[in-house]
Amino acid sequence: MKETFYTVRAPLDARIALLADLHEDSGQDILASLRAQKPDLIAVAGDLIMVRRPEHTVYKMESVPQVLGLLAACTEIAPVFVSLGNHERLLCERDLEMIRSTGVTLLDDAYVQHGPFVIGGLTSFSRRDYQDVKKRWYPDALYPKSSNEKEALLPQPDVSWLNAFAKQEGFKILLSHHPEYYFLQYPFLADLPIDLVLSGHAHGGQVRLFRALFAPGQGLFPKYTEGVFAGPHGSLVITKGCGNSRSRGVPRLFNPPETVYIDLRK
Ligand SMILES: [Fe+2]
Repeated sequence: MKETFYTVRAPLDARIALLADLHEDSGQDILASLRAQKPDLIAVAGDLIMVRRPEHTVYKMESVPQVLGLLAACTEIAPVFVSLGNHERLLCERDLEMIRSTGVTLLDDAYVQHGPFVIGGLTSFSRRDYQDVKKRWYPDALYPKSSNEKEALLPQPDVSWLNAFAKQEGFKILLSHHPEYYFLQYPFLADLPIDLVLSGHAHGGQVRLFRALFAPGQGLFPKYTEGVFAGPHGSLVITKGCGNSRSRGVPRLFNPPETVYIDLRK
């Protein structure tokens, strides 16, 4: 597990840990890193799980106890805030309750005040699509097979709450699993007065050969796969992801997982 440190100018000093794309990893090395680095808060920007439907258990989150265990262990280190990525699209209400029961604050298109911070979580458009199709065509199925985006009525994330979030007093942090929402795709989060947007999803370009070769949502030779990017109002920080998920069908070639620490400095 690589540790990556970034410094971002802010009106206050704090250390934020950024995790994303765990993809069902139990994260024991992540916990060791968090215990050593002592962040003030832990942001988990989506894709805790793989979207595969559970085989032997009723609920998806019951099939990944290691993920619930990792979240619970993280809450003993610092307050934890979780947003939902594209792989969380199939989760039902009971699954979300199980995530909350670990002690984390789940931000499903919502925000909360936390000390000097206002922390929001923008849910992946993919979840909106899937849940919309499920409600419309498969109301009785727990995890219907179809997530056919062509059938979906609402192919965008729910941005209806973002203006209210952006008007809040305090240092605003938005967990947005998709980095492409910042500069590339509607809505352009860079246009909103948000101090810090935290993303994952691109897996550092998945395959790297001198540079990132591909990222979901950005295609070939993606620009936004890791690092800090300055916007007109704040910054975007993207992690390459911290799940060692080669064995789970998500390739990582020449591209080790990382835990990112963002030091806010006056
Ligand atoms: Fe993702």
